[in-house]
Amino acid sequence: METTQNNQSAKNAPIGVFDSGVGGLTVFREIMRQIPNERIVYFGDTARVPYGCKSQETVTRYARQIVRFLRTFQVKTIVVACNTASAYALDTLEQETDIPVIDVVKPGAKMAAEMTRNGRIGVIATEATIGSQIYTEYIKKLNKNVTIYGKACPLLVPLVEEGLLEDPVTDEIARRYLGELIDIDIDTLILGCTHYPLIRSTIGRIMGTGVTLVNPAYETARELREMLSAKDLLNDEPPALGGNQYRFFVSDKAEKFVRFANSIIKYGILSAKSINIEEY
Ligand code: DGL
Repeated sequence: METTQNNQSAKNAPIGVFDSGVGGLTVFREIMRQIPNERIVYFGDTARVPYGCKSQETVTRYARQIVRFLRTFQVKTIVVACNTASAYALDTLEQETDIPVIDVVKPGAKMAAEMTRNGRIGVIATEATIGSQIYTEYIKKLNKNVTIYGKACPLLVPLVEEGLLEDPVTDEIARRYLGELIDIDIDTLILGCTHYPLIRSTIGRIMGTGVTLVNPAYETARELREMLSAKDLLNDEPPALGGNQYRFFVSDKAEKFVRFANSIIKYGILSAKSINIEEY
């Protein structure tokens, strides 16, 4: 009896999801869609965004603090909904944490390796993710015969954080970054930063219909569902009406975050709370 109850509370425990800011919402909304019974605690590090231009040491310190914060909610698993934190801190988090940690890079690499037909894959991401060569490493493990072209696009994250999703400035900057990828005949492009799916239509328009865009969020949510199912941790009960199924925390400017989140997620996020992440 006790074991059944323990298992039920483990299944009911929320999933912790984090990113440097609003980008992880692209992963959040995919989890919401694919496993709608789950409770989620989301943390966006809006005080310290962007991560992509910071050192491995700094990003790892941030990620550790966030995991400590999320664990105060007894989360059953952590989703690192940030490529930069996945590239820099995943190994450390896995070593230090006794619950499963899911990243976004492995799922994205897997999708791209399966999708390419001509063996030429582009990756756009932050300076940190590109510099770490993590996509190249994972994709090469799956398929040695592909060539990977990485391009850092540092200005795209601040543009997305400012809500300039359909804007001539974003269009112009994206064109400058993507120009060199157009000339080298890639057939697959990984959106290797969780902020980029929010400007997917701009990127798609520039790259043209011959290039398939890979959003790692889809495969991340699928792998998360599989992992939870294998561990018998999927929440099989629909969440209680009026309960706190989704909770949002940020390290700064909660109202700005809520406005943005409501513009891209049709769920109707009522509130987000600002906390001092340096205390964790
Ligand atoms: N959204 C994050 C990523 O996937 C971080 C972007 C940033 O803060 O620079 O890399």
